Amino acid sequence: MSSATHQPVDTPLTPAAMFLVLTIRPEPEALDAVRALCPDLPGLVRSVGFRDLDGRLSCILGFGSEAWDRLFGSPRPKDLHPFQEIQGVHHAVSTPGDLLLHIRATRMDLCFELATQVISRLGDAVTVVDETHGFRYFDARDLVGFVDGTENPDGPAALAATVIGAEDDEFSGGSYVIVQKYLHDLAGWNALPVEMQERIIGRTKQTNIELADDVKPSWAHNALTVIEEDGEELDIVRSNMPFGDVGKGEFGTYFIGYAKSPSRIEQMLENMFVGRPPGNYDRLLDFSRATTGSLFFVPSADFLDAVTQPGAPQAQASAETSPSDSAPDGSLGIGSLKGEPSHE
Ligand code: HEM
Repeated sequence: MSSATHQPVDTPLTPAAMFLVLTIRPEPEALDAVRALCPDLPGLVRSVGFRDLDGRLSCILGFGSEAWDRLFGSPRPKDLHPFQEIQGVHHAVSTPGDLLLHIRATRMDLCFELATQVISRLGDAVTVVDETHGFRYFDARDLVGFVDGTENPDGPAALAATVIGAEDDEFSGGSYVIVQKYLHDLAGWNALPVEMQERIIGRTKQTNIELADDVKPSWAHNALTVIEEDGEELDIVRSNMPFGDVGKGEFGTYFIGYAKSPSRIEQMLENMFVGRPPGNYDRLLDFSRATTGSLFFVPSADFLDAVTQPGAPQAQASAETSPSDSAPDGSLGIGSLKGEPSHE
């Protein structure tokens, strides 16, 4: 387990969430504005969150692959790359995204206020390319009517699944996250008999019990998304939320999955969209279309705290005191934080 403090990737499901995907404008000042936000973000979360301590406000900041290079140069997280589209039986699109803000709380007003503060702080440095407001739907169901999130690991298992340790020492405490915004064909879905819906998801609808192995098809959603390596199940942590716009006929699930390696989530997507074996795909996709797809790296909280502008006194000082951390390519020279005590 990493000694660097992770961002709150393991926050349990909340009744409200906002997902903001941003692109950063090309000018150097825009990069400066984003870098300046990094160490200040926890203070903003505290300022808004302290107004209702029961509100459990949290915020995660993630960076897309190209944005990482523009903002921080090298070193870079070893598995960071743009989201790869999948052309299988169904299509997983790849869409632009430099920054992800995943804001969660028990109340939407807290999420909304924090998003407002962050976006007004960034000003015209960024463009919001997608903003989704997620809500809890009855007993944590998605809009296809099934309880969503049951098999998520929690506690230490959630951290073991999501937080990078020795496998990428320089970026320990970080995580990867993939987001996809799905729109459902609810008329088509609701026309299916409930027994067929249950076989597609792999659980009973009303009581949320997993189907027995001899009843569950090999193409059930919860069969294709269970993956193993050397006999061990590889977990991810999902924090999906329903969203919608009744007037536009939009009923969706915002998928968000955190993991210590993106390949876990990519393997699940491959199984869903292409099939395992190919052709044996996830029938949920006959009724759910992915309209976005982006991959981000979520650095440790310590990393964010240490971000400075290139050439700023703090960055120079850190390069002077720790020559091995200075980057000849003009990057920020953010020191390795692996020896720092954990604040957990
Ligand atoms: C339309 C989008 C999606 C919907 C509505 C959806 C819904 C569900 C539901 C209802 C369950 C069963 C309860 C639970 O354990 O949470 C589930 C399980 C799961 N889903 Fe999804 N899901 C979606 C997309 C995805 C994607 C894109 C992935 C991964 C890339 C994924 C990974 C998983 C995993 C790992 C499980 C747990 C399997 C198990 O251990 O039993 N889901 N999902």
